[in-house]
Amino acid sequence: MVNIFLIIFIARCYRTNSTLARNGNDDLQKCLSSLLPSSIRTIYPCSTLANQHSSQYQCEHFNIDQLSCIRGGRISHFPAVIVYAMNSNDVQNVVRCATKLNYIVNARSGGHSYEGYSLGSTYNNIVINMESINYIHINQHDGTGTFGAGARLGPIYYRTYQYNYTINAGRCPWVGLAGHALGGGHGVLSRLHGLLSDNILEMKAVNAQGELITINKTHETELYWALRGAGGGLFVIVTEFKIRLVKSPSIARRFSSLWYPNATKLVMQRYQSMLFHYKIPNFSNNLVLEMLVSNTHLEISIFYFGIEFEEFNKTVSMLLAKLPTPRRTHFDEQDWLTFVSKAAEYDVGSRDLQWLLLDRLAYPTFDFKSKHLFYDRPISSPNLDKFIDALASSNGQSVMMFVPWDGHISTISVNETAFPHRHFKFGIQFMIYPNNKQHEKQQMNWLKQVYLSVYNDSTKHSFINYIDRDVPNWMNVYYHIHQKRLHNIQHIPQGSAWDGTIPSHPMGQFFSSNIPWDGMGWDESLVPWDSHLFFF
Ligand SMILES: Cc1cc2nc3c(=O)[nH]c(=O)nc-3n(C[C@H](O)[C@H](O)[C@H](O)COP(=O)(O)OP(=O)(O)OC[C@H]3O[C@@H](n4cnc5c(N)ncnc54)[C@H](O)[C@@H]3O)c2cc1C
Ligand SMILES: *[C@@H]1O[C@H](CO)[C@@H](O)[C@H](O)[C@H]1NC(C)=O
Ligand SMILES: *[C@@H]1O[C@H](CO)[C@@H](O)[C@H](O)[C@H]1NC(C)=O
Ligand SMILES: *[C@@H]1O[C@H](CO)[C@@H](O)[C@H](O)[C@H]1NC(C)=O
Ligand SMILES: *[C@@H]1O[C@H](CO)[C@@H](O)[C@H](O)[C@H]1NC(C)=O
Ligand SMILES: *[C@@H]1O[C@H](CO)[C@@H](O)[C@H](O)[C@H]1NC(C)=O
Ligand SMILES: *[C@@H]1O[C@H](CO)[C@@H](O)[C@H](O)[C@H]1NC(C)=O
Ligand SMILES: *[C@@H]1O[C@H](CO)[C@@H](O)[C@H](O)[C@H]1NC(C)=O
Repeated sequence: MVNIFLIIFIARCYRTNSTLARNGNDDLQKCLSSLLPSSIRTIYPCSTLANQHSSQYQCEHFNIDQLSCIRGGRISHFPAVIVYAMNSNDVQNVVRCATKLNYIVNARSGGHSYEGYSLGSTYNNIVINMESINYIHINQHDGTGTFGAGARLGPIYYRTYQYNYTINAGRCPWVGLAGHALGGGHGVLSRLHGLLSDNILEMKAVNAQGELITINKTHETELYWALRGAGGGLFVIVTEFKIRLVKSPSIARRFSSLWYPNATKLVMQRYQSMLFHYKIPNFSNNLVLEMLVSNTHLEISIFYFGIEFEEFNKTVSMLLAKLPTPRRTHFDEQDWLTFVSKAAEYDVGSRDLQWLLLDRLAYPTFDFKSKHLFYDRPISSPNLDKFIDALASSNGQSVMMFVPWDGHISTISVNETAFPHRHFKFGIQFMIYPNNKQHEKQQMNWLKQVYLSVYNDSTKHSFINYIDRDVPNWMNVYYHIHQKRLHNIQHIPQGSAWDGTIPSHPMGQFFSSNIPWDGMGWDESLVPWDSHLFFF
């Protein structure tokens, strides 16, 4: 009896090291090739194959850039293998090999993790590319959609719109449904319909034993709670989502106005007073006020998805009253799908909205780093000054995005799902697109300064979909009051190699709790920066 426990204990402690120290993947190759159909693409890095010319295995000098939206060498990835799964059965078989041989598994759906977590990291992980499991079925009678976990937002927007439905999700069409929905999924319809995770009705998923399970309101209820908002990479690999669709807005209007930097403080104060003092909650949730601040300009956009023009006009007048004359204003209105296409701000040189299906379109990659904070009160005047000073000293390509986090989101009880940030007013994303490798470190420091200038006014909490590997005490930052409940989820029977608890760093590892966060921060071995800048 004693011996059995000792063996389990030792196995657990040594798992980390043995995973890290692996110097060949022969056992893995054997297991995968015996369980997977031969048509499944499995790619091993050439450096781990004894015989690179063996016709038995494909080998590649990994070009991970193609699988992650983060371009450049900021994050290093060395997967043991990348498996291109075609269905949930493949996922089950890969997980069976992983469990048997003590590998960590990372699912990669849309590849849009801000820190590239879907490709593991420097560890020798198994990456399951879910991209081909991307079916889209719409049930127009009950207003639900069933989606393969590898589906992307663009095709979902396009297909659902054919039935006058949509999803309440984010605006980048390349983002994968899986990572997005598991972490919340926030977008312009969130004031109206909440987060995408609030509309998840059911999931099919593979657990650490390789079983395909159904997760819904009555089955695996604790996982149903956790997977709506705690983020991808935890507990299971989801293969399918059933989602409650929402009616697409009949029309989408947008007013935007642009100011020079010398108006920054006044405009920022007006934005805040609109959110706090003018009682925007009394306005319908059809209104969304976003603000974008950079060191060259600032812009406020008002989106409106309702049909009462007057409500929209009133808000525009309220914004502009007593502010300096904007450098430029712009108004437009369009159908929902055109709005979605424009919001993606990706020039495809064509007005054909079918581009949203993304057929044959490689996705843009970014050199970026982002930080994020939530607010439940306005930023104080002295801290606005500090913020503006820090901003002015920047020489990098950067943008701070202020986005409302209220409306319908805050009407849902905080314990309903694992998403804990139900009473915050707005969030700020601090983003930098380094344009020069030499000055990269300086630009990163500068990003931190801007972030810190308004940190004390924030709630000090953040959104897991905007994950930042430099955040200390991440359980508290991302999970807030739900830390303990998430920690207590022991989905996997005690004593198995995978213990199924929360990993030591979010999204880095699947089913693992002992592996330390690698704390790589900024990787010095960068490929040359490309200064191309994308807004999204
Ligand atoms: C350009 C851009 C725009 C964005 N805009 C928004 C926005 O408007 N609103 C918003 O809320 N977020 C936004 N995000 C953040 C985005 O929602 C998250 O990065 C999300 O995790 C991406 O999901 P993915 O499947 O594309 O990513 P991946 O990198 O494939 O996965 C992200 C994480 O989820 C895990 N995971 C992936 N698939 C599965 C699965 N099937 N089962 C279990 N775990 C899985 C991965 O292992 C990884 O840890 C944006 C990101 C980018 C890069
Ligand atoms: C969608 O709405 C439009 C306009 O109201 C209508 O003409 C069309 O028939 C609807 N389509 C479906 C599939 O219901
Ligand atoms: C949950 O899934 C189980 C198994 O498929 C099913 O029997 C049950 O009806 C589902 N519950 C809900 C609320 O859909
Ligand atoms: C702000 O800057 C713009 C452009 O540089 C200039 O035209 C305008 O007069 C300035 N406004 C004030 C109040 O200084
Ligand atoms: C907004 O709602 C609050 C509380 O419901 C109310 O006291 C206030 O008068 C309303 N303001 C406006 C402008 O309608
Ligand atoms: C709202 O503003 C637009 C553009 O300024 C104007 O054409 C329209 O008549 C206004 N509508 C109402 C109801 O005030
Ligand atoms: C949420 O659950 C926690 C315990 O997990 C409890 O202390 C808290 O009161 C609950 N909050 C609400 C609003 O139900
Ligand atoms: C924020 O608060 C901490 C502790 O209260 C303080 O030490 C720090 O100087 C403050 N930072 C800023 C930028 O105001």
